[in-house]
Amino acid sequence: TSGDAAQAPAVVTVTGAAGQIGYALLFRIVSGAMLGHGTPIRLRLLEVPQAVKAAEGTAMELDDCAFPLLAGIDIFDDARAAFEGANVALLVGARPRSAGMERGDLLSANGGIFKPQGEAINAGAADDVKVLVVGNPANTNAYIAAQHAPDVPRERFTAMTRLDHNRALAQLAARTGSHVDDIRHLTIWGNHSATQYPDLTHATVRGVPATSLVDPAWVQDTFIPTVARRGAAIIEARGSSSAASAANAAIDHVHTWVKGTRDGDWTSAAIVSDGSYGVPEGLVSSFPVTASGGEWSIVQGLEIDAASRARIDASVSELVEERDAVHALGLV
Ligand code: NAD
Ligand code: LMR
Repeated sequence: TSGDAAQAPAVVTVTGAAGQIGYALLFRIVSGAMLGHGTPIRLRLLEVPQAVKAAEGTAMELDDCAFPLLAGIDIFDDARAAFEGANVALLVGARPRSAGMERGDLLSANGGIFKPQGEAINAGAADDVKVLVVGNPANTNAYIAAQHAPDVPRERFTAMTRLDHNRALAQLAARTGSHVDDIRHLTIWGNHSATQYPDLTHATVRGVPATSLVDPAWVQDTFIPTVARRGAAIIEARGSSSAASAANAAIDHVHTWVKGTRDGDWTSAAIVSDGSYGVPEGLVSSFPVTASGGEWSIVQGLEIDAASRARIDASVSELVEERDAVHALGLV
């Protein structure tokens, strides 16, 4: 009875496990990058029936890595079974857009996936479940899932804008000849779509305001559109949507949620609005957030200039339209 008790495995459910992001994500989860190197992982994978065999192949490869943290893998084509006991749920499974589509075009195609998954999370996930939606349109899919999980606190439903945040860090670091780690207080506001607002009005680079290091024309004409349209640029270049960078951002999002943000900085995540910054309550919108003790908090009291206000409002209007569209489609 002496010594450290082995930590109980965390149950991690991943949907779309046989897809591109799934392939880049699962190995990193089980390596310990997401929950830390002391937490064993029990994977529960959800796929559509025709992709179960491919998921089994990925599971064989996961076994072949002999990861010390891997406590078991189960594969399902039934959402109720897959979310049973989930402590972390990564909702990746959805169709990606192809060249020429906007993410909003996926609303009806993918919205239908998130109602039954929300219900399954409500029915069987662990009391402390943390949900990250990656599948697009991610914010509104998270909204749909949350609406169908009335017993789960709404703040447990989040959508991923960490990839946009990381893209913004990389662009600003390159422009200023600095390191991504030198940058603080960048924010992605709104929807994970071309209307998102990458905001560097509060950002600093080695303590110096970013706005004093870059000219306004670069911010308007290059920085904002490059970050907001990066998903489309990757599709154009690779012929398919971002996968490893998306998986990396999902790892970052959950890691920050569980372990907390670093002192003196914040990050970006799409969380259920409490009405802060005029974003209608209940919408899943990206904010500047800190995490501590497994909970996100929206950074309060930031001054929002008129140009920022207009851009935030434009993205939030799109979220309102998406919300109204999924209500009209009967998905909520
Ligand atoms: P993919 O087509 O390679 O894989 C998707 C997988 O999901 C497939 O294996 C498919 O069988 C599975 N799937 C479909 N419906 C399912 C369901 N109901 N339950 C379980 N699994 C299901 O696509 P991908 O490249 O892995 O991308 C997945 C999603 O992530 C897309 O919607 C894409 O647009 C989105 N994405 C989001 C971000 C972001 O930053 N939020 C970044 C990149 C991609
Ligand atoms: C991305 O931002 O790379 C993803 O959302 C994929 C896409 O459709 O843009």
